Amino acid sequence: MKVDVLLGLQWGDEGKGKVVDVLTPKYDIIARFQGGPNAGHTLEFNEIKHVLHNIPSGIFREDQINVIGNGVVIDPVIFRKEIEAISKLNVDISKRLFISKKAHLILPSHRILDAASEASKGKTKIGSTLKGIGPTYMDKTGRNGLRVGDILSEDFKKMYDSLTGKHMQLLGMYNFEYKLKDFEEGWFEGINTIKKFSIIDSEHFINQEINKGKSILAEGAQGTLLDIDFGSYPFVTSSNTICAGACTGLGVAPNKIGKVFGIFKAYCTRVGSGPFPTELNDETGEKLRQKGNEFGATTGRPRRCGWLDLPALKYSIMLNGVTNLIMTKADVLSAFDSIKVCTAYETTEGIIDYFPYNINIVTKAIYTDIPSWIEDLTNVENGSDLPPELIDYIHFIEKEVGVPVTIVSVGPKRRQIIEL
Ligand code: GDP
Ligand code: IMO
Ligand code: MG
Repeated sequence: MKVDVLLGLQWGDEGKGKVVDVLTPKYDIIARFQGGPNAGHTLEFNEIKHVLHNIPSGIFREDQINVIGNGVVIDPVIFRKEIEAISKLNVDISKRLFISKKAHLILPSHRILDAASEASKGKTKIGSTLKGIGPTYMDKTGRNGLRVGDILSEDFKKMYDSLTGKHMQLLGMYNFEYKLKDFEEGWFEGINTIKKFSIIDSEHFINQEINKGKSILAEGAQGTLLDIDFGSYPFVTSSNTICAGACTGLGVAPNKIGKVFGIFKAYCTRVGSGPFPTELNDETGEKLRQKGNEFGATTGRPRRCGWLDLPALKYSIMLNGVTNLIMTKADVLSAFDSIKVCTAYETTEGIIDYFPYNINIVTKAIYTDIPSWIEDLTNVENGSDLPPELIDYIHFIEKEVGVPVTIVSVGPKRRQIIEL
């Protein structure tokens, strides 16, 4: 069997958690391949609303193995809290959650460095979630990091002290107050929680399961436009969020990738700083935020909102080799008097229809008007019952980008999903 990949095509929060939870029964294994607790993946079922950060979104189904892959960075403190929250729901995951030995650990001092770096940037800050993501991936590529496999070593505390010592030297460069000791006890408690799970060579496990014919869904975090190489740099995260990240983040060869599910909202949102060509700083943007409940799942920050951006979506589809599109939050657009979709940009260098190197050259988004609909979609169960205007909107997108939309999500709950 091949590994299917589900990932975000915008700036994150496209509804990955919800859709992974819905698709999980079709798979044997769900595996996260990059990012860390900067992710907030929301699931709603049986009157429960749950947000996952480090743990894959297949965890609430009983029969699937969930893997935290080598490309992920784990904060033991947040991991422990997640485990406690899940166990309160009487869900036993002890035999169903495996963690890669090669996943890197977020240290308390990584979080402090993240905060110090952001504070020093002032107005030019990235708008990081302050979870220590950037500093942890810096130590990974700088070959200084601590990995989950290290916690089994007798020298682990020494390794921890050595890396923390380096961080304290670095922190000396910033004028930033911090209290490391306050965080350390909880961190080591989190390490003990991690030890209770199966710590594995996940690349061997995944490839063995592929060879046995098991089906695997790789779950992305963040979104393509936050990718470290291709996103709106420097306003990006520190990992490869694109499909290639599933290969490096799980140890899966490119020829083992099957379907690529690219998920996008029927409009656009972004949290944190950075360019956003279709952003609406007006009452329409506010209406999208309120109707779409666009507040960050990890930080609670209001999300910036705007219309769907097709040049950006085409770019994301190209980078990921998307085979199936999934549109979420179609229900939010009901009862908008007018819907717009961006098809090109006016820039200081003329009109372009592609996502440019420097997005700041965009002076205006060029829009096509889409006929709107008034029907409430949240109880629609069949594609044939969707309003014709929404079907036309979907056909318009498919024609522009050349990939079919195979799933439409019409609400946050498990049941609110339509296969086309
Ligand atoms: P993720 O990071 O991609 O998993 O997405 P988030 O969980 O951060 O944000 C998506 C938000 O939209 C969550 O609050 C979901 O419960 C909610 N959601 C997901 N799909 C839909 C949908 O089709 N309609 C509506 N109204 N909400 C949705
Ligand atoms: P999910 O998986 C939306 C954004 C932050 C910031 C930038 C860098 O829930 O879609 P970082 O903490 O990675 O250093 O922040 O990336 N960001 C996200 N935005 N959804 C996410 O994850 C995000 N993870 C990071 O807001 O702009
Ligand atoms: Mg999210």
